[in-house]
Formats: sequence, C-alpha cells, structure tokens
Amino acid sequence: MRVDRDVRAERQRVCRAYRSGQRPPHFVYSSDEDSLWSSVFGALGEMHEELSCAKYRSAARLVRLPTHQVPQLSEVSRTLHSLTGFELAPTIGTLPSRLFYGPLAHGILNATPDVRPVAEQSFSPDPDIIHELVGHAVMLADPEVAELYRCFGRAINDAGSAELSSAIARLFWFTMEVGLVVEKGCPRVFGAAILSSVAEMETFAHAELREFQVDDVIAGSIDDGMCQPVLYVADSVGYMIDEVRRFLATSVGRDVRGLSSSPGS
Ligand SMILES: [Fe+2]
Repeated sequence: MRVDRDVRAERQRVCRAYRSGQRPPHFVYSSDEDSLWSSVFGALGEMHEELSCAKYRSAARLVRLPTHQVPQLSEVSRTLHSLTGFELAPTIGTLPSRLFYGPLAHGILNATPDVRPVAEQSFSPDPDIIHELVGHAVMLADPEVAELYRCFGRAINDAGSAELSSAIARLFWFTMEVGLVVEKGCPRVFGAAILSSVAEMETFAHAELREFQVDDVIAGSIDDGMCQPVLYVADSVGYMIDEVRRFLATSVGRDVRGLSSSPGS
C-alpha cells in the first residue's frame, strides 16, 4: 500500500489548521487503507482475546472500534468524551515530549490520523492511527486509566527538572506503552505499543520479564527503535496504577535521584 504524497500533505495541512477545542475534522482514507485497518485490527483482536489484560478487553467493548474501515478520530473522540471526558486532537508525526504529555493533563490525547504502510505494520517506532486508537484510545475509555494519563500530564507539566521529566517519561513508557500485568498467573498486555503491534503481541513473552518496581523502571533505559528486550510485569493493574500514582504525586518538585535511592519515600 502506498499512501499518496498528496493525501499525506492534505492530512498535514488539516492537522496544522486544527485548533484546540475544535471537533477533529473528517479524514479521507483509501480502500487500501481501510483494508489494512481491517486486516491488522482483525489479527490484533484475536490476540487481544487471549493476551490483553481484562481492563483492556472491557474498555474495547465500550469503544467498539469499526472493523472494516479506518475510524474517524472525531467519532472515537466523541465516544471517549462521553465516557471519561478525554478528547482526541489530530496531529502528524511524533511530538516533542512536552507537547505530547502536557495536554494529557487537560484530557487531550494528540493522535495522528495517518496509517503507516504495510511494510512498517509489524513494527515501527512512529505512531499511526492503529497505535493511537487500538492502543491508547481504547484504554482511555476506562476512568481509572484515563485519570492515570491525566496524572502523567500534570506531573510532566509540574516537573522542575529535566531529570524528573525523563524519569516520568520512562515510567510512562514501561507502563502505558509496554506495561504488562499478571492475570491468572500469566503476563497480560496493558501497554498501548504492544497492544497495537502484531509483532510485539507475538513476541512480548520472549522479552526478559522483570518484576515491576518503580525505582527499577525509572532507572532503566528505553530503546523504542526495536521490540523492547526488557519488560516489567506488575502483580496486577491495580498495583501498577497505585504505584505510578504514588510516584507521580510525591516526586514532582523533588530531585529524582534522591527519590530513586529512597524506596518507599
Ligand atoms: Fe504511544
């Protein structure tokens, strides 16, 4: 599938013209893009039944993404707003960290309307609409998870140092993007990057799985140019959310190295 350059340029133009508070505009998708969505969404759906966490499966039943055509950001945004107050704002490409996290505090997820080509579907470090909707937007239908996204946004906005901002970003990565939780004795997927990638759903269990501890996570490193070799598994979704919220609530304004060397503070 080749996305016409003019189509992408038009999407960029529309995204640049978008202003906060507006309803996301209508985006036109080709039949190839609809087919790609249908096949990837179908493959992921079968994997999610077995390998995603229960919270994700419940949220997916609320959002009910369409199976045979690329969803409109505006329609998913309307659904999310009615459920948790979150909205989607169209954007193109990977945003600088602060521009991605900051709006989360106000219940806004910047989401690209682009569909990446077939050759990049199995793995790509860049977001596309499958990642934004299948990964992030579905989870934003859950009130507890939506509030966690807001907490990340507030924490980044209030962080007083680059070190703390980067620790928060690592915590976001290893929870909201590639986080795992134990359910019925097995690792199940919570994070959006894995949930939205066929290749990562197929291989996450082969990564080195470590017990989720915030201090270990924020000391780790991220390589988002490949399937993550080390993943962290929390005992439960509730434990992970509680630990993340505790860190975000207590860390802002304090030196992150001091915090990481004082477990339980
Ligand atoms: Fe993401």
